[in-house]
Amino acid sequence: MAEFIPVDPFDIVIFGGTGDLSKRKLIPALFHRFLDGQIDQSCRIVGVARSKLSRQEFVNLAKEACQAASSNWDEGKWGSFSEFLEYIHMDVTKVGPSWNTLKGYLTNDGRPQVFYLATTPLIYTAICNVLGEVGLNTPNARLVLEKPIGTDLESAREINAGVGAIFEEKSIYRIDHYLGKETVQNLIVLRFANALLEPVWSRNAIDHVQITVAEELGLEGRADYYDRSGAVRDMIQNHLLQLVCLTAMEPPNSLEADDVRVEKIKVLKALKPYTAETVLQNSTRAQYDAGLVKGKKVVSYQESLSGEKPKSTTETFVALKVEIQNGRWAGVPFYLRTGKRMEGRRSSIMIQFKPTPHPLFDKADRLPNRLVMRLQPDEGMRLFMQIKEPGPGGLRLKYLPLDLSYAENFTVRYPDAYERLLMDIVRGNLALFMSRDEVEAAWRWVDQLLKSWDEVSQPLETYVAGTQGPIQSAMLLDRDGREWWEQ
Ligand code: BG6
Repeated sequence: MAEFIPVDPFDIVIFGGTGDLSKRKLIPALFHRFLDGQIDQSCRIVGVARSKLSRQEFVNLAKEACQAASSNWDEGKWGSFSEFLEYIHMDVTKVGPSWNTLKGYLTNDGRPQVFYLATTPLIYTAICNVLGEVGLNTPNARLVLEKPIGTDLESAREINAGVGAIFEEKSIYRIDHYLGKETVQNLIVLRFANALLEPVWSRNAIDHVQITVAEELGLEGRADYYDRSGAVRDMIQNHLLQLVCLTAMEPPNSLEADDVRVEKIKVLKALKPYTAETVLQNSTRAQYDAGLVKGKKVVSYQESLSGEKPKSTTETFVALKVEIQNGRWAGVPFYLRTGKRMEGRRSSIMIQFKPTPHPLFDKADRLPNRLVMRLQPDEGMRLFMQIKEPGPGGLRLKYLPLDLSYAENFTVRYPDAYERLLMDIVRGNLALFMSRDEVEAAWRWVDQLLKSWDEVSQPLETYVAGTQGPIQSAMLLDRDGREWWEQ
């Protein structure tokens, strides 16, 4: 049974309160924290959006969202939770009387006041300016910024400067929900709470690292955003680079935000930039064609874009060979890949160790140790090892995993990443949020990748939906005598 430590009373205002993120993640996350007794009865949750809804209509929308995200529905508990909810429709970029209504909903007893910007990043600065003008940028305020923070380094800097003019850095929570996932946090525990791993966690023992985030989903109604972003901006710039950071960073001095952030930034700064000379050999971009996902026909990416769009050149898949230029990782490639409409929903980090130095056994049997951290689904860890197959008559080797499955060892419900992150915001714990410098360092590297693609007119490959991506992704590893780990 998991233990939940209640958080102090707080108020939260969700800008973009009727949007997809609010409905799918934020409101259900708050509801689940309430069900577990972590949220106090005096909390206020205020949805703010342009839609002219009444409070009751907003409550109905929230109820539908929570029902969709709950396996055990408790009408009584919902009744209590729904009393927290308020709704205001307004143009959030302009000062007006509605801001007084909003202020009226907030409790002024020194409690945290969370302002969650789940809107387009284009209006982040405008909202902050108004928050400043109406005096809501108090020391108790916590500003939450959803990704994407910008579309390149320049726009990210503009947003950071704009919001930074109104809120102090210590009040700004830049969310990357991958950092709230159970297994991602477990990576930190695994690395730094187990003494046996540190001596082998480097170029001395590790051959290479693979990070895969494969999705079955396609555009899910976000065509407009996605077609302007593509897999690099949508996934690599944030989620995958954060996974690289946690895998590769030096042990931080403590788990305090400043100490962890310093180490992550060092990794981002050590990423070898692509150039026109290196990018073709070390990356692949592709877009999915029609195919079968879980036995169901899906149309091509191009067809899934609504309207009469010209041919899109947006990548829905990317595979990269990344180098980290520091003493720990020199010469150890990190292979990253992510894509939509792939064969299965599967995210993992696979650490492949070097082979044993002296060939005591047959070449065919000399498989390397692999540590696989499975982020989703079936969260857990497997350490693949060689053992002797039982029985007389020679030495036959068997390659089997030491298997640490979360489901088998823990019977708790896995909270969604947003549940953990929202509670951290209320507690004022910044450790799982990105700093301004981190976001900018990630964009700097990504900009260079995109610029190099432009310079060489990097081809856009295709892959059949429901597969592991294009053949060029396999070739990326094949050139180094390696293969993607597909288990
Ligand atoms: C989001 C991306 O940040 O992460 C989506 O914008 C993607 O395109 C999603 O589908 C993946 O998150 P998860 O938690 O489902 O792996």
